[in-house]
Amino acid sequence: MRKPIIAANWKLNKGPSSTEDFLRSFLSEVNKQSFGVDIVIAPSFVSLSKASELLSSETKVQLAAQNVSEHDSGAYTGEVSVMMLKELFLSYVIIGHSERRALYGETDQVINAKIKKAREANFRPIFCIGETLEERESGKLEDVLRTQITQGLLDIPEKDLTETVVAYEPVWAIGTGVTATSEQAQEAHAFVRSVLKDLYGEAASQKVRIQYGGSVKPANAKELLSQPDIDGALVGGASLEPSSFFEIIRNSAE
Ligand code: PGA
Repeated sequence: MRKPIIAANWKLNKGPSSTEDFLRSFLSEVNKQSFGVDIVIAPSFVSLSKASELLSSETKVQLAAQNVSEHDSGAYTGEVSVMMLKELFLSYVIIGHSERRALYGETDQVINAKIKKAREANFRPIFCIGETLEERESGKLEDVLRTQITQGLLDIPEKDLTETVVAYEPVWAIGTGVTATSEQAQEAHAFVRSVLKDLYGEAASQKVRIQYGGSVKPANAKELLSQPDIDGALVGGASLEPSSFFEIIRNSAE
């Protein structure tokens, strides 16, 4: 049985003080009951230490970084290494988000190096994949996903795969308000799992959690999460308000 994972990707939003405001209000709700899902928050780098301070005594909410360098140290202006993140109370790292791929030129090779680096430091990667609308409409969905998975996971052993969460995020659904239907999402997730099965075998593929991302909201979370191969959600816009992120968690857990 795979435990669902609901993660907030705050992108370029919330400095340390709004992170603190969010967490104080969110924790007061979340701590009232248990949901049986992993809850993860990914603030910006500058807000991670404030979040780490507030969450270090918590068990209900885990922390993620939105990115990490594939390098350990040196002349890489603006980058953050796994060893720096190691000093924080942090469990996950989002890697290969479509915005990193499209806006910052991250290739499958860079993403693969980042996943390896994250695993060296024992972080759990949230490895993002997904097709553009053009790719979907021209019948390339499966080719694109297969390539992203195969290249992104190149030389990653099974023991690291099972600590990795795959986030399937169709690019056309991110921040657009257009969600994939639950059938479209389930179909893509089943395909992702079949590629993992080809690469690692049935047992390992069944252990991997595959999140859906792209305009997840309180109103559609339950239906998406009820699909057999959808094991969670990566939430952007709707995770910025404590009440709406909380509602997504509550609806997913039902
Ligand atoms: P969205 O973003 O929920 O705002 O569509 C999701 C993501 O990019 O992870």
